[in-house]
This record gives sequence, structure tokens and C-alpha cells, in this order.
Amino acid sequence: MKILLKVKPSSSVLLAAIFAIGAVSLSGCSESDTKAVDRVEEAEALARVKSLEARAAEIKDEMAANPSAKLSVSMPDESTIPDDEFGAAVRRGLQIANHTYKEMPDNVGNQLNCTSCHLGNGSEAYAAPWNGMPGIYPIYRSRAGRVNSIQERINGCFERSMNGKALDLGSDDMNAMVSYMSWLSQGLPYGVSPEGRGFVKVDKTLEPNTDNGKKLFAEKCSVCHGENGEGQYNDDGTYIYPAVAGDKSFNDGAGMARTYTAAAFIKGKMPFGQGNSLSDQEAVDIAAYFTHLPRPIKANKDKDWPNGDAPKDVRR
Ligand code: HEC
Ligand code: HEC
Repeated sequence: MKILLKVKPSSSVLLAAIFAIGAVSLSGCSESDTKAVDRVEEAEALARVKSLEARAAEIKDEMAANPSAKLSVSMPDESTIPDDEFGAAVRRGLQIANHTYKEMPDNVGNQLNCTSCHLGNGSEAYAAPWNGMPGIYPIYRSRAGRVNSIQERINGCFERSMNGKALDLGSDDMNAMVSYMSWLSQGLPYGVSPEGRGFVKVDKTLEPNTDNGKKLFAEKCSVCHGENGEGQYNDDGTYIYPAVAGDKSFNDGAGMARTYTAAAFIKGKMPFGQGNSLSDQEAVDIAAYFTHLPRPIKANKDKDWPNGDAPKDVRR
């Protein structure tokens, strides 16, 4: 059962707890010839309801006392990955995230990893962290013109950011990635965007100056990503610095191929280790330049944004 609660952070923790209470009471429903064992389970369920109610009251007090508290993302301690089948799936998900093209050659058509963009194991604020995502999806997405599940969202990045092919929605590797994202989401309330979701904001009304972008790319980016954005790769195919253009990079249907999306990422995170050092105009200029360097072409881009509400930086 999956229920999405779209509410303000202040009330959502409470609602998430109440939702959990609801789920417990539902499972407490039993047939008329209730067996003794069911009664014990019911008693346990009631005790759990009581403790959840107490916790909900506590959370409410905490939030009232500290109204500006933000829900932040971080990488939980890996020792909290359980030592069971679910834990094995979480570990597999983490492995895929950091070694995507090596682990999934049938589904990846370039030489990037998920964590080339989703920095810090997919748990770094303002690098589109995955913490909380399994409670935020399913969600309506205008690019698809329909509600997408978390699995479909992941496949979106396989087909575009990884220039590859979608996974079977119920495959073990898909479940591993969702398991990993679930584990990353521990402690976050259900259905609420944490602080640091997506990227930092840039001013989308700025007009890009591609010539200036080319100059700045040579000054600030090419030392790692190469003169033409081709990246730097070891003989065994692993990268030192990932490609931001060319065959080894994302395709032109990817979010990162859009000027203002790329500008928001690089403004917050690049040059690597010097995030937030570029002005909005510099980020927009550099992004317009490198996103439009030659790169793989995504087929059927004309089917994106079927309701005609495509943002102005979308590639056709
Ligand atoms: C080339 C960069 C890049 C790579 C590589 C990449 N992604 Fe993404 N991903 C993005 C961008 C850009 C977004 C959109 C962020 C936004 O909307 O602000 C995104 C969004 C997402 C989201 C939704 C986040 C949200 O806040 O709604 C998920 C989940 C996701 N990616 C999973 C993956 C997975 C899994 C992989 C590896 C298979 C991957 N991505 C590889 C760039 C990338
Ligand atoms: C000091 C080296 C360094 C510099 C300088 C640098 N980057 Fe990066 N960049 C990285 C690393 C490392 C990653 C990937 C992190 C990972 O895999 O953990 C990355 C990732 C990226 C990505 C996402 C992955 C991909 O390949 O598409 C983009 C886009 C990007 N950088 C653009 C830029 C731009 C634009 C600049 C200049 C403003 C820049 N970088 C400067 C090291 C650098």
C-alpha cells in the first residue's frame, strides 16, 4: 500500500506517524472467529499505536519548539545496513550507483555512473540527492505528461543521463536501487522534499553568452574534463574525471543537457570542490557552451512534454 501525503513539513511528520498508526490498525482487522494468536497480535498492535501516538505528540512539540528546523539529507552510517536479504539489496544498489557502467553494460550506453551527477553516493544536498525519493514518487511529471513511479524516474536517467536502456521495472537491480534509496531515506518523513533536493537555483531569465562560456570552460573546467569535455579515463575504462560531452557522456534528452538545469548543477557543485564560486551568469554561459557540444542524440525527444508545457531550454 502506498499513500502519498502532500503537506507542509510542520504537519507531515505527524501525519506520517498517524498514517503508520492507520496501517497498524488496518492490519489489526480480523475475521469473526478471532484466534488467540490474533488477539495477542492485536494487543501488540494497540501497544504500538500507543507508542506511535506518544511519538507523534513528541514530534509535534519538537517542531513547535523549532519551527525553522530543516529536513536535511546525509549519507547514513553504512553499519546501519541490515545483515539480511534487504541489506544485500541495499549494498547492491550502492554498488550500482558508484559503478553503473561497469556493473550494467547492457543498460548503460556511456561511461558515467549515477554518482557522476548524484554526488556523494546520491546523498549530497543540491546534487539531486535520493534521500526521501521513495516517499515523494509516484509524482506527476510534465516531461512524461503522466504520473511516474520511482522506478520510471530511475529509468528516465538510464535512457538519458546514461544514454542507455530502461531496466525491467521488477528486476533485482531495479529493486536494489529502490532499496538503496529507501535506506537513504531513513528518518525522513514520508512525501516531503528535504532541504537540498535538486540543485541550487539560478536565474532562468539570464541570456547565455556561449562565447564567454567557451572561454570560461577552458579556464575553469577543461583541466579536469578535457579541452572538448571528453573527460579523463584510465586504461581499464574507469574515469578520473567524467566526460561532459562526446560519446562517453549523457545524451541531448537528459536534464543535464538543458542549459538552466546544467547551470544549476555546476553553480552549486563545480568546479569540483569549489561549489558556489560561479556567478549565475557565468554558470549559464558555461552550461550553454558545454551542453551544446557534440553528444549522443536521444531518439523520440518530440514525444517529451506532450502537453506543450516544455521549458525554454528543452532540446528538440
Ligand atoms: C548526467 C547526470 C546524471 C546522471 C549520470 C544520472 N542522473 Fe539522475 N538526475 C539528473 C538530473 C539533472 C536530475 C533532475 C534534477 C532536478 O530535477 O533538479 C536527475 C534526477 C534523478 C532522480 C529524481 C530526483 C528528484 O529530486 O526528483 C532520480 C531518482 C535519479 N535521477 C536517479 C538516477 C539514477 C538511479 C542514476 C543512475 C542509473 C542517475 N540518476 C544518473 C542527472 C543525472
Ligand atoms: C578538479 C577537477 C574538476 C573541475 C575543475 C571541474 N570538475 Fe566537473 N566533475 C569533477 C568530478 C570528479 C566529477 C564527478 C564526481 C564523481 O564521479 O564522484 C565531476 C562531474 C561533473 C559533471 C557531471 C558528470 C558529467 O560528466 O556530466 C558535470 C556536468 C561537470 N562536472 C561539469 C563541470 C564544469 C562545467 C566545470 C567548470 C565550471 C567543472 N565540471 C569543473 C571534477 C571537476
